[in-house]
Amino acid sequence: MTTLERISVIGSGLMGHGIAQVFALHGHDVTLYDIRQDFLDKAIAGVKANLGAFAARGIIGQAEAEAAPARITCTLHLEEAAKSADFIVEAVPENMTLKQDIFSRLDAMSKPEAVLASNTSVMSITEIASTSRHRARIVGTHFWNPPYLIPLVEVVQAGETTPATVEFTMDLLRRVGKHPVHCRKDVPGFIANRMQHALWREAISIVEQGIADPRTVDEAVRLSFGMRLPILGPLENADMVGLDLTRAIHDYILPALCDSHKTSPVVLDKVAAGELGFKTGKGLQDWPADRQQASRDALRDYLLDVAEKQVKSGR
Ligand SMILES: NC(=O)c1ccc[n+]([C@@H]2O[C@H](COP(=O)([O-])OP(=O)(O)OC[C@H]3O[C@@H](n4cnc5c(N)ncnc54)[C@H](O)[C@@H]3O)[C@@H](O)[C@H]2O)c1
Repeated sequence: MTTLERISVIGSGLMGHGIAQVFALHGHDVTLYDIRQDFLDKAIAGVKANLGAFAARGIIGQAEAEAAPARITCTLHLEEAAKSADFIVEAVPENMTLKQDIFSRLDAMSKPEAVLASNTSVMSITEIASTSRHRARIVGTHFWNPPYLIPLVEVVQAGETTPATVEFTMDLLRRVGKHPVHCRKDVPGFIANRMQHALWREAISIVEQGIADPRTVDEAVRLSFGMRLPILGPLENADMVGLDLTRAIHDYILPALCDSHKTSPVVLDKVAAGELGFKTGKGLQDWPADRQQASRDALRDYLLDVAEKQVKSGR
């Protein structure tokens, strides 16, 4: 029997606690590091609540829901998290100087063969690694929120990341039930966020031009091609309808689409007015507390339904 790798997660916030949970649920010992004990306590309470929801739906057994959190050891000392880990995931706030500092310290404190991964959403892995000495073992692992429910992890190969580092990371992620994809270039937005934000740019432009209001834009996506997306990606769809038709549509429509390299005035004006969305109760739409809760509940229930269906169908 092979020994399971020892995992460390740096930063126990929204992403960090969920990433720790993924590895612990698959039998790995996990060390979770943060700068305050109350943050770590909250993280463990979050893991227990998430696993309780899994058990309530039969996604995992009650015994697993109770055993997994006990595999997570919390620490306030970075060296404790670094010294015996085989794989370390950093999930601290999106700040380049902070991430560079964490990586150069982990680089000095960890075993030379350990792989060091950053969960940055958009920042360059090459730049994060630039202040470390052993850059060949530094890689991006872009988990999506919530990391224990969304299967994809983008494994980002930076300038000096070796193929062996990428292969080890992809293999480990597969073994904990994730669906890793290899992003061969360290570009802003990696693979999926480039497409997500190309869509948001067009959606905001439609509002800016008065073509439709925000609620209508979202309905138009959710109730049309949005329904196909879990089965049919854009490139399979292009082949399905035919590249001759795709060409005819693109020749006609591309000149009409938004190609701005600047944030829309719609977003700039809202931010200047302090209308930030859920956190202020008003953004592109109005968000009273009950409507926010309904939105969050609907997303979580949908993702749990998908996870439950996958387990019950043996996938
Ligand atoms: N929130 C998302 O939807 C999402 C999705 C994908 C990737 N990410 C990325 O994941 C990373 C973490 O995001 P998050 O949403 O979990 O943030 P968060 O603010 O919820 O958590 C960050 C945690 O890091 C801790 N921290 C701060 N300074 C630290 C330090 N010096 N050492 C160790 N821990 C420290 C904080 O106390 C906090 O617990 C960011 O790079 C973010 O861009 C976020």
